[in-house]
Amino acid sequence: MALYIISNRLPLKVSKPENDFVYERSEGGLATGLGSLKDFEEKNWIGWPGIFVDEDQDKDQIRAGLLSENFFPVFLSEAQISDYYEGYSNTVIWPLCHYFYTYIQYESRFWESYQEVNRLFCEEAVKLIKPDDRVWIQDYQLMLLPAMLREKIEGISIGYFHHIPFPSYELFRVLPERAEILKGLLGADLIGFHTHDYMRHFISAAYRVLGLDCNLDEINVGERMVHVDAFPMGINYELHYNAILDENVQQMANKFRENFGSHKLALSVDRLDYSKGILHRLKGFALFLENHPEYRGEISLVMVIVPSRDQVDMYADLKTKIDEMIGSLNGLYSTLNWSPVYYFYRGFPFGELMALYHIANFAFVTPLRDGMNLVAKEYVAVKRDNPGVLVLSEMAGAAAELKEALIINPNDIDEIEGAFLDALTMPEDEKVRRMGKMQKTVSKQTVNKWARDFVKELVAIEKKNQSLQ
Ligand code: UDP
Ligand code: G6P
Repeated sequence: MALYIISNRLPLKVSKPENDFVYERSEGGLATGLGSLKDFEEKNWIGWPGIFVDEDQDKDQIRAGLLSENFFPVFLSEAQISDYYEGYSNTVIWPLCHYFYTYIQYESRFWESYQEVNRLFCEEAVKLIKPDDRVWIQDYQLMLLPAMLREKIEGISIGYFHHIPFPSYELFRVLPERAEILKGLLGADLIGFHTHDYMRHFISAAYRVLGLDCNLDEINVGERMVHVDAFPMGINYELHYNAILDENVQQMANKFRENFGSHKLALSVDRLDYSKGILHRLKGFALFLENHPEYRGEISLVMVIVPSRDQVDMYADLKTKIDEMIGSLNGLYSTLNWSPVYYFYRGFPFGELMALYHIANFAFVTPLRDGMNLVAKEYVAVKRDNPGVLVLSEMAGAAAELKEALIINPNDIDEIEGAFLDALTMPEDEKVRRMGKMQKTVSKQTVNKWARDFVKELVAIEKKNQSLQ
């Protein structure tokens, strides 16, 4: 009996800069979190390898390259990526689930393509999966897949995890395909969310849209009960906690520290995304520098922004605004030996990212909405006994667990401004106390535990269903 994870993106992305295919780690919480799962039963993964290929020979080469990891590629065309991924997934579902209702750009061909690609994933999965295997579908790009798979493989055990917020019914009801999406999801035996709030919103949508009989954590779909639960995703704690013990990471940290100079560093790490509150954070920092001239030259904001979905209009516009805002902030305040913002528009390899976390005095994780946010947890783990301050948005799923962070409302620019002062002036013993408590939390709720808890519940449901037959 094997476990099949199915997600839009594989944890490895393939590119071909010259003659050969190159395999690199994907960014984004789903891939980094699940990708670092260890000591798990036989794990297979089906997903898009992040590259367009037409030639069968190239497809075979990629298939062979991924096979040793038990990864199985689903190849998508440019049109499918444009309409299913950039279109329905990221211009309809993503803004809807992150409460950016006005950012939705709806085209009927997006929905057509979303259905087509979910069917394609289903066909590829059916070729590999045996009836007694377990399937764990990940995230909003594949919400129709649970029902499609159930129709093809009778009696199969299916889990689904939603990595982003599930919005309140009042918002969800605006989606023309609300009923189809819910029916697709309800093909699963177990549906997981990061928090109880998202879970409650989902149950309320199932009740109000489909009129189903629901209780606290179960939905009656007639022939089956669908279970719904909250499983907060974590990180590979050991990997992050021990990262700085690696000599190369240590050397990089020392080099970075030296190059940045002696002033304090506030770090932020995000994919390019309007949900991450990047502009609000910059405004808060600008206000802080304006109102606190005594701190100019004393603190820099190190912004790592990983390129993401830049073919989608809203993302491209955001990039332009970020560039402009950082340009004007640096133009206004930079001196010969200090810049307010160090801006990196690229992904960092694991070791370098760990070195940055390690040297950062503060981390500013201020999304306007975020399903969980693993960056917050990674920062906490990497700091070890080197105290730092985590400023965290109350709109991130992680805020439900990391209560000792400096919690702020990311819509309130004054609060962000205030957080810079609070972080700079926090007494050392308070930093140590808060960090210690958060480390305890993050070290307990690891990504392995998250996956084990989910699969354990799925197995229990399987057994219960068998006993009822
Ligand atoms: N990340 C990365 N390289 C980078 C910057 C970020 O691999 O240069 C990773 C980061 O370590 C984290 C993930 O990307 O694991 C981001 O996950 P998060 O949950 O914070 O946000 P998401 O991108 O999933 O919305
Ligand atoms: C979030 C989503 C994931 C997605 C990741 C990166 O974490 O929940 O499903 O993979 O962002 O985004 P991308 O569009 O590059 O896959």
